[in-house]
Parts: sequence; C-alpha cells; structure tokens
Amino acid sequence: MCGIIGYIGKRQAAPILLQGLRRLEYRGYDSSGMAISDHSTLAMTKCVGKIENLAEKMKTSHLPGSVGIAHTRWATHGGVTELNAHPHTGNKGKLVLVHNGIIENYRELKDQLGPEHHFTSETDSEVLAHLIEREFDLQEQKNCEGLRKAVGCGLSHVKGTYGIVVMHEDVPDCLITARMGSPIVVGVGKDENYIASDATPILAYTRDVLFLDDGEIAEVKENNVRLFTLKDEIVSKKVEEIHWNDEQAEKQGFPHFMLKEIHDQPTVFEDAIRGRFNMAEGTAVLGGLNMTEQQMRDINRVIFIACGTASYAGMVGKYAFERLAGIPAEVDVASEFRYRDPIIDEKTLVFVMSQSGETADTLAALREAKRKGAFVRGIVNVIGSTISRETDGGTYIHAGAELAVASTKAYTNMVTVALLYALQFGRARRVSIATGQRMLNAFLEIPEKMNWILSQKDSIKEIAEKYKDYKNFLFLGRGINYPVALEGSLKLKEISYIHAEAYPGGEMKHGPLALISEDFPTFAIMPQNQLYEKMRSNIEEIRARKGKVILIATQGDERAKELAEDVIYVPAMKELLEPLLNTIPLQLFSYYVAVALKRDVDRPRNLAKSVTVE
Ligand code: M6R
Repeated sequence: MCGIIGYIGKRQAAPILLQGLRRLEYRGYDSSGMAISDHSTLAMTKCVGKIENLAEKMKTSHLPGSVGIAHTRWATHGGVTELNAHPHTGNKGKLVLVHNGIIENYRELKDQLGPEHHFTSETDSEVLAHLIEREFDLQEQKNCEGLRKAVGCGLSHVKGTYGIVVMHEDVPDCLITARMGSPIVVGVGKDENYIASDATPILAYTRDVLFLDDGEIAEVKENNVRLFTLKDEIVSKKVEEIHWNDEQAEKQGFPHFMLKEIHDQPTVFEDAIRGRFNMAEGTAVLGGLNMTEQQMRDINRVIFIACGTASYAGMVGKYAFERLAGIPAEVDVASEFRYRDPIIDEKTLVFVMSQSGETADTLAALREAKRKGAFVRGIVNVIGSTISRETDGGTYIHAGAELAVASTKAYTNMVTVALLYALQFGRARRVSIATGQRMLNAFLEIPEKMNWILSQKDSIKEIAEKYKDYKNFLFLGRGINYPVALEGSLKLKEISYIHAEAYPGGEMKHGPLALISEDFPTFAIMPQNQLYEKMRSNIEEIRARKGKVILIATQGDERAKELAEDVIYVPAMKELLEPLLNTIPLQLFSYYVAVALKRDVDRPRNLAKSVTVE
C-alpha cells in the first residue's frame, strides 16, 4: 500500500514524479507529497487528498531540480493530514525520506533518539528520517557512500517492514533506497534512473529494471546504480526487462480503469493461454510447474492460498482439481492459513495466487507452506514480484497492468491458469485425451463469447440503474458458480458500498432465506448445467417470499424469464469454464451501480490495490 517514486537525472524531476504518482494512485490516495533538490537546497510540498490536489498546489509552488522523491499515502499510523503525508524530514530538515511498510518499534526508537528530536507527525515513518539523518552526521564521508552507510546503520535498529527512498540536501548526486518486506524496483535509464514501489510509474521511461530483495540497499546516481546488502557487502544482479507496455497503464478512452480492464478480458485471456496448449495430447503445458510426472501423480492434496478476489479464483481451481484430477483440494484465505496449524507435507501442492504478488498475508502463508515442505507454486500477475520470486515455480497470468482497485481481468486470468493446471494434473492422472481436447476447444471459444457478453453492456447498465438504490443484495450460485457469486458480491461491496452477501443456493433455507423481502433483491447464477433444476428450486423459494430476482441464464433459456424481474443471458459453455463468462455481467453490474451512485470507482474508500501490511 502507498506508492513511491524517485528520479535522478538531467530532466526536471517534478513533472516526472507527478506523473508517476498518478500512475501509483491506485496504491493509496489519502495524501501525497514530494521533495526536490536543485543541487543546493531541498524544497517540499504535501497535500491531503487526491494527486490532482497536489498537482493544483504545485502550480503555485513550483519545485525546480532534477533529483526528487514522492509518495502517495494509504494511512496506517496517524490520520489523514498534511503533517502525516510523506516525505518526512529529519531533525535538522536536511534529510527527507519516503517510506512504505510499518516500523513496529518506532516508539522505542523515538525514545532512544531523546528529547532533542522534535517529531511533527504521528507516523511511524518519521522516526526513520531522524535516525538516518543522525547516522549521517556521525559518518566521516559526507558523500553518497556515507549516506548509504548511514541508511544501513539506521536500518539496523529497525524492526518491521520498509521500502524507503532517502535524499539528503548535502548529497544531491544520489538517492538511497532499501527494502525489507516492501517492494522496491530501480528503473535503469540512460543518464537517468528511477526508483519506485512497482514498475507501473516507470514503464513510460524504461523497461530495464532491478528488483531489490529484502535486506538490500541501492545507491542510485544519474548514471550508475550500485547494490549492497545492509551489511555493506556488494551485490551483483542482472538487469531484467519488463514486457508490459505503458499503454496498459492508460485508460485508452474508457472513463475508468475498471471498465477498461473489464474490456481487456478477451485479449488478456488469450495471453494467458498462448503457448500453453498441447492439443495433440489434450493437455495444458505450464512449464513453470517444475514437477516430474511421478511427483504430479504422488500429490495427494492441493491447497489454493490467496486473499479476496484471488481466493475466489482459487475456489474455482478447487472445484476443477477435484473434478479433473481427483485430488482433494481446498482454498484457504491466507490470513487464516498463516495463523492456524495447517496439515501439510511433501505430498501437498500449494498454489499461491496473487495479482500483485506482494500481499503480506499471502506472502507469509507462502513462507509457512515452504517451511513445512510442500510444493509451493505461484499463480501471479506482477512480474518480478516477491511472491513470484519466492515460490519454487509457477505461472504468470499475463493480465497486464491492473490499476483499478477492484480486480477483474486478473481474476479471470487466475481462473484460467488454475483451470489449465487442473487439466494438466487431470491428464497426468485420469482424464482421457479426448476429454482434454474437448476442454481445450472450449477454451478457444471463450474470447468470442466474452465479447458477446461485453456487447450487452448497455442492457446491464439499465438493470444496474434500476437497482442502484437497494441497500442489500444477495448473490446465489451453486457448484463452480458459487465462487462467481462470492466474487459478484465482493465487487458490489467494494466499489458501490452496498451491503451484499453470497451463498450457495442450497444454503438459503438454513437461515439466509429469512432476509428475503421485496427490499432485498437476489442476483442468481443459473446456467443450464447439472445443477440447473436445483438452482431453479432455490429461486422459486425466493420468489415465493416476494424476493426480486436478477438472473444470469444460458442463452435460449426461455423459462428463466418466468422466474426473474430481469435476465442477463450468457452463451452456453462447458461447466468448468462457466466462471470465465458468468463473472463478467457481475463486474459490469457493480461497475454501473457504482457509477450511478457517483462512487470513486477506481479508488474506493478505505481500500488499496496492493495490501502489503497485515
Ligand atoms: O494482489 P492480490 O491478488 O494478492 O490481492 C488480493 C486482494 O487484496 C484483492 O483481490 C482484493 O480483494 C481486490 N480489491 C478485490 O477486487
């Protein structure tokens, strides 16, 4: 959470940093700030609210200089005020710092620094600026090396997580960055370099990046980047190339990133399956699995670990693994998994699913699963992210940059990859070539069918406008469409702030049916699959209690109209692949409800895209 961008080069830093903050706004949007050096003095500006407030402020307080750091905040310690916004300054005002993460022992550190240190904010971060500035004063070398050593010494006292960038008025020719638990990427340019909390804001300038690992520190000058450990040993690392393009981080004419990302789905779905089919063998080939056929046959348990939307994608994976591969499978929410004592051994395969690849709970669960000896594989979107690097293999979902806080295309591509894994295991264990081929052929029909659903968006918009003022919603699904119901309800909650719950259809009569009245509409997913009649009965029960129903039904199902106020038709699809289609109307419904309610669709209140704190 929170976004960091730093620049050092020959150009004016302020416009680059401002543009970088706009790209990072999905990581935090309660306040922002930047500090710039013109090689003699430091100047700083901060602001509460959106990045555009900062941009407005900077029209009158222009900050000249070609070195700078900036930050967009998602508050953890201390309220949303200008004083709590980053950058933070040391006691003498000579050192400035931006920080992502949480300093757990900040109170002790403040006490140790003594009464001569005056803190102006309520944040945990400010203590780092004081600590490092004091360490720099103790250094003999008043240059970049001295600043790097001061950062190392300062951080040696810290308990917690950080991704920081530090700038000192007396050392204007370099920026120092360090990482422990909060990602840092260095973008390598020509006669200029960048530092950021993820690659999104630097893609417009360079695709060459260095990913810092925990415990590393980088000295970043205009034409040179040097890496060290916190103990000051040199680290050598290869520059990696990022294949995402900058266009993916643009709205491309859509009013919101979320709508653009919903429309990206047919294209990015093709990216997720490209090169991953072996049609002759009727199987998927996910090279990153790194397991022998024998190991695949020996696995006796599969666990999908994830948070939020990613966990619902994992739930689709669970159904598919049990159906195709005949392996007991379960889904665990990462924050629960890490604090119980999960039964795991070397015959357990754990899939860790994450769009950002940085979710703190998911990362902790990954480490726990590895410690217990499981096979741990990633299903991740962000290339080079911590989860992608800490797993022993896995697959990128190739959804491209997803910037709306509400996940859409990353969900679809996680589902896709989970289904491909289920097929690969199924073929290694019990599925016939012909069955495998039928499934692969069904995958090939998906993009066209997704496009057909997207072409129905105007009628989905009308339905959304009709229902926007209801205060509660129920989402119902059965089997592989139960995770779809969960995802639909989460989408509605997070961007429209309407209360929504999701249940398996069969659970209604065990309690939730008591909620149903004219004022409590139900969104039900009722495709023509093996559970069709069961789902129909559940909906009849709701109708009998005067509940209004919106149905997702299979094209041509005329009976659906008798059951519902409104029907959204979707093309028929092989059952296991239904979530890839049935989720899209729910995404569009939530989107249009949120727009009708004038919500901040891409940046819903209280949420951040990448949840790097517990
Ligand atoms: O980056 P991750 O996939 O690990 O994020 C997990 C959740 O925080 C995320 O899916 C969240 O639930 C989304 N905002 C849902 O739209």
